[in-house]
Amino acid sequence: MKQYSKRMVIAHWLTLGLLVLAWYLGDALSDSTDESRATLLGYVVHASVGIAVLLLIAMRLFFRGKDGAPPAIGNAMMDKVAHGVHHTLYLLLFMIPITGILTVLRSSVAKALLSGDANMLPKAHGFHGLLVHSLHGTLVNVLIAVVVIHVLGAFKHQFVDKDGLLERMMLRRK
Ligand code: HEM
Ligand code: HEM
Repeated sequence: MKQYSKRMVIAHWLTLGLLVLAWYLGDALSDSTDESRATLLGYVVHASVGIAVLLLIAMRLFFRGKDGAPPAIGNAMMDKVAHGVHHTLYLLLFMIPITGILTVLRSSVAKALLSGDANMLPKAHGFHGLLVHSLHGTLVNVLIAVVVIHVLGAFKHQFVDKDGLLERMMLRRK
């Protein structure tokens, strides 16, 4: 096996797309809460995209178990680093949506959604002191940092080592 299976490739790039969207929507939501003008729809849309990420990651791990992955191609030390980075990414992709769900459940957002009453949504500083809320935002920042390392690693393979690593994550079959 030289490349990831087609469904693994689709899930990889779809995760990237959904993450960018969830990140943008989360930031917009947080800004509107700070200005006490968040809407129920804003929460529903952000939560839906975030839950889609969670489902996609669960599917991805299932596909990985069934289809396997191509063998490592770098040196032993760097392979260990890449392996650690991939594990961290998968872990974060579970923890971020879960802390998001817990933020909804442990704040007045759940009650507001259930009653359909936007007045019950948290206003500026409304999440203050809620640990899962701070954790949700912090883990997103950690994810961004780890993704930067991951992308730099992929680019080093592609443009410095010129070993064609990126082709392993492409739909075109060799
Ligand atoms: C991978 C998926 C997700 C990403 C990348 C993401 C990203 C973000 C970001 C960047 C923020 C703003 C944090 C801040 O500035 O303090 C945020 C806030 C939030 N997210 Fe998520 N999120 C995801 C999934 C979810 C899910 C699944 C839920 C709930 C079902 C959720 C619920 C929330 C809530 C309630 C807030 C607080 C909004 C506010 O401060 O007004 N998130 N998210
Ligand atoms: C421009 C952005 C990206 C590029 C160029 C890229 C590139 C790649 C490449 C080439 C591989 C295959 C590595 C190998 O064969 O050993 C890979 C694997 C992986 N990527 Fe990305 N990636 C990007 C964004 C992301 C993002 C945003 C995430 C998740 C947050 C992610 C998570 C992963 C994971 C978990 C694997 C390991 C797959 C497995 O073995 O199960 N990537 N990526």
